[in-house]
Amino acid sequence: MNPAYKIIDHHYDVVVVGAGGAGLRATLGAAEAGLKTACVTKVFPTRSHTVAAQGGISASLGNMGEDNWRWHMYDTVKGADWLGDQDAIEYLCREAPKAVYELEHFGVPFSRTEEGKIYQRAFGGMTREFGKGPIQRTCAAADRTGHAILHTLYGQCVRHKVEFFIEYFALDLIMEDGECRGVMAWCLEDGTIHRFRAHRVVLATGGYGRAYLTATSAHTCTGDGNAMVLRAGLPLQDMEFVQFHPTGIYGAGCLITEGSRGEGGYLTNSEGERFMERYAPSAKDLASRDVVSRAMTIEVREGRGVGAHKDHIFLHLDHLDPKILHERLPGISESARIFAGVDVTRQPIPVLPTVHYNMGGIPTNYHGEVLTKAGGDPDKVVPGLMAIGEAACVSVHGANRLGSNSLIDLVVFGRAAGLRIAETLKPGTALPSPKANAGDAALSRLDGLRHAKGATPTAKLRLSMQRVMQNDCAVFRTHDSLSDGQKKIDEVFKAKADIGVSDRTMIWNSDLMETLEFDNLISQAVVTVHSALNRKESRGAHAREDFPKRDDENWMKHTLAWVDGAGKVTIDYRPVHDYTLTKEVEYIAPKARVY
Ligand code: FUM
Repeated sequence: MNPAYKIIDHHYDVVVVGAGGAGLRATLGAAEAGLKTACVTKVFPTRSHTVAAQGGISASLGNMGEDNWRWHMYDTVKGADWLGDQDAIEYLCREAPKAVYELEHFGVPFSRTEEGKIYQRAFGGMTREFGKGPIQRTCAAADRTGHAILHTLYGQCVRHKVEFFIEYFALDLIMEDGECRGVMAWCLEDGTIHRFRAHRVVLATGGYGRAYLTATSAHTCTGDGNAMVLRAGLPLQDMEFVQFHPTGIYGAGCLITEGSRGEGGYLTNSEGERFMERYAPSAKDLASRDVVSRAMTIEVREGRGVGAHKDHIFLHLDHLDPKILHERLPGISESARIFAGVDVTRQPIPVLPTVHYNMGGIPTNYHGEVLTKAGGDPDKVVPGLMAIGEAACVSVHGANRLGSNSLIDLVVFGRAAGLRIAETLKPGTALPSPKANAGDAALSRLDGLRHAKGATPTAKLRLSMQRVMQNDCAVFRTHDSLSDGQKKIDEVFKAKADIGVSDRTMIWNSDLMETLEFDNLISQAVVTVHSALNRKESRGAHAREDFPKRDDENWMKHTLAWVDGAGKVTIDYRPVHDYTLTKEVEYIAPKARVY
C-alpha cells in the first residue's frame, strides 16, 4: 500500500454506491432487513440526478381508465424494439403498481385527480389493449416527480438510520478471486482514503450522458460504476444504445418533459406544420423517443428547421390553459423562461434532441446481480457485485427506453436488489479476511493521475471526447461517421498518456476529480463507438443509415464489450431472454414497429 495515503477501513454487510432513486431504494431495503448498510455518494443524496426527472413514473394503476400490467409489458417490449429481456420486463411491469403505492405510503406528494387518486398523464409509447390507443399511465408529481421521490426516499433512509458517506468519490472495486469484496473511495472533504469491505457492493452510479457535448444529464453523470466494472475486467452491455430526448432546450440542452406533449403540447417546423402526423400518423407527438428524435433531425436536415439558422424545432404549449401549465408543468415553464427567454403561455419553446439516457450498462439479472459471460455461461453471476438503475442493463429497455420507465426501473429494481440481499445474506456474517494488497490498484491509479505531468489539460481532452461523440455517434449513424468516430475516440483515449493535472492536493481537488471522471467517461465512450460500429442493423435508438432495417436473424442479441488498459475493445454477445418469468403471460414475438 502506498505510504503516502492513510487508509481508513470500514466493514459492512452491504455498501451501496450512489444515492439516486435506485441507490436509496436498495439502501432502504437492505437497512430494513437489519443489514449493516452504508451508502457512499459523491453528491449530497438529494442532489443526485434523479432529482431532475420531471414527467413521471409509469405503473398500470388504472386511475384514469382501465389499465393492465400486460399492456404495459407489451409497450415496453415494443418500445425496446425486442432487445429487452422479457423475464425482466414482466417483473418490472407486474411489480410497478406495488412499487408506486409503496412510494405513496412513504410520503411522495403525487398530484391528485378530483377523486384524490394518483394523477396519471399520457407518455410516448404507452398504450391500452396492446397498442390500440394512448393511455394515461405515467404517475406524476407535477413536473417534479423525481424531486419528490428522491426527497421522500432520503427521508425514509434517515428514518432507518442508514450510514451515509457523503461527497465520497468511489475509486474502484476490490475484486479478489473473481468476487467483489468491497470498494475504495476518496473523501473529498478531508482528502482521506477509505476501504469499504462488504459482502455486497451495489452500484447505483447512474449513466454516462456527459460523454456527450449536450445532455440533459447532470455534470455528475460520468458513469463511475460502469467504468469501475470495465477496469475490473468485466463487460458492459448494449452500449451502442444511447437515447436522445426529443425536447432539450435549444442551446442549453435542459430537459423539457415529454409530459408537456402528454398534456397536449405539439411540435412544428418552419412551415408551421405538425410534422409528427406524417411520421407517426397514430401516435403523432407521443410516438416513442427514438421515432420523434429522428423525425426532428430529418426536418432540420431537409431545411424545415426554425430560427435564424433553421437548426431547431418549436414545441408549442401556448394553446394550453395557463391554469394547467401552472398546475402540471410549473418546472418546465420556469426552465423555458430562464434558459430560452420564452413565456410558454404565449411563445413556442425552441427545442432539439439531446442525449438523455443510456440503455446500455452493467449486465444484470432481474435481482440486480451482475452478470458476465464465462466458461460458456452467458449469465454467470459475479459474486458480491450488484448493479441497479441507469448504471445497469437488466435489460428492460432494450434498444430504446419509453419515457417514465426509468423512474419505475429505479424503484422496482432498487427494491428487488434489497429483497435479494435480504434473502441471501444473514446480518453480521463474518467477512473473509482481506488480501494484503486489497485496494492497491485503485490507489495506484489515483496517485498516477494526481501526479500526471503531461501537457494536455483534462478539460481539453474531455471536450475532444464530447465533440466526437456528439458528431459521430449521434441520432443517425453510418459506417463512415462511426469508423471516423472510432478512429478519433481511440486517439482521445491514447492522448490520456499526456494528461496534465495541476492541483496535487487531496482536499476538494476538483481538477483531480474531473480527471478521474474523464478517465471513467473515455473508456465508456470507446466501448460505445466500437459497439455502434459493430452492430450492422437499425434497432431502437441505434439508427444506421447504411443498415436501415432491424435484422432479427443476425442481431437479436446483446452486445458485450470489454476494454483493456491500452484501449483495445473485445466484443462478444449474450442471447436476449426470449422467455417470460411466469406462465401468466406469453413471450411477445418480434414484429415491425408501427406508430
Ligand atoms: O420527459 C421526461 O419527463 C423524462 C422522463 C423519462 O426520461 O423517463
